[in-house]
Amino acid sequence: MLWIDTDMGFDDIVAIMMVAASPRRIAGVSLVFGNAPLEQVRRNAAGAAKLLDWRFPVFAGATTAILGGIETPAHVLGPTGIPTRGKALPDAPPAAPSGALSALVSWLEGLEAPGEILALGPLTNIAILALARPDLIPNIACITWMGGGATRGNHTASAEFNAYADPEAVAIVLANALPLRVVDLDLCRQVLVSPDDLAPLEGLTSPRAKILADLLGAYIDIALTRGRPAMALYDPTAAAAVIDPDAFAFEPVHVTMELAGTHTRGRTIVDQRPHVVPNADWGMRADARRVRELALGALMKAARP
Ligand code: RIB
Ligand code: CA
Repeated sequence: MLWIDTDMGFDDIVAIMMVAASPRRIAGVSLVFGNAPLEQVRRNAAGAAKLLDWRFPVFAGATTAILGGIETPAHVLGPTGIPTRGKALPDAPPAAPSGALSALVSWLEGLEAPGEILALGPLTNIAILALARPDLIPNIACITWMGGGATRGNHTASAEFNAYADPEAVAIVLANALPLRVVDLDLCRQVLVSPDDLAPLEGLTSPRAKILADLLGAYIDIALTRGRPAMALYDPTAAAAVIDPDAFAFEPVHVTMELAGTHTRGRTIVDQRPHVVPNADWGMRADARRVRELALGALMKAARP
């Protein structure tokens, strides 16, 4: 059983489509602020569920970071957190405004064997869970998180967005020894999607295909408008690490979260020196062809009428 924690941007939606198309069962989804404020994330989740006929339960979680602020990439993604070329997710009534913590607690309490979490946004909900119910940490087998980076950032020169949006949450997760497996920016940048990948989707005629092609096109436009030929598949790469782990190589490392740097707040410091005691597994290599096939295959499967 898998729990997904997400800030429901377009790449989060593709990641969830990949899991939904795999043999893994989704026990529930918790929402966190990130790609947009939580109210908009709830609307995005409801729209995606309507478009894609998702049946799993969805619960709203943190509206702000642990210290209280809200950071979003609105300057890149726009106010909804999902850029479009003109189409949009359908309107649908959003999930209740809270409930994520109690839903996660009930899920963990009811498990017969430790469960897995796929985290695709700021780690705020997971940190709150760890602080509220440390006794349930042993019930978590693994948290696969898209976040951080060992080299350059994306939201700032130093920091990846999910890490920057709530660095204290990452620090809490690390300090409480949660079993963390990181799919970072550097790894995701090995898995690219370009305008050539749009053609098969654009060849389909269903209303659902039209919306997915529009949103994928707008996602690729993020890179094109910045002079890059292709866009990294961030959250889908993390989903692939869960559904096709053999396509990845992880290595134990020690991660420290930069909380104080004037220019480096939100940076993940990845220490690979042999004498350090590891506190996380870090994704080093991915079979980009396999990850792309899973992502584009899930899009095509969902888009066919
Ligand atoms: O930095 C990439 C992450 O931030 C992804 O989770 C994506 O959804 C985003 O906004
Ligand atoms: Ca995300």
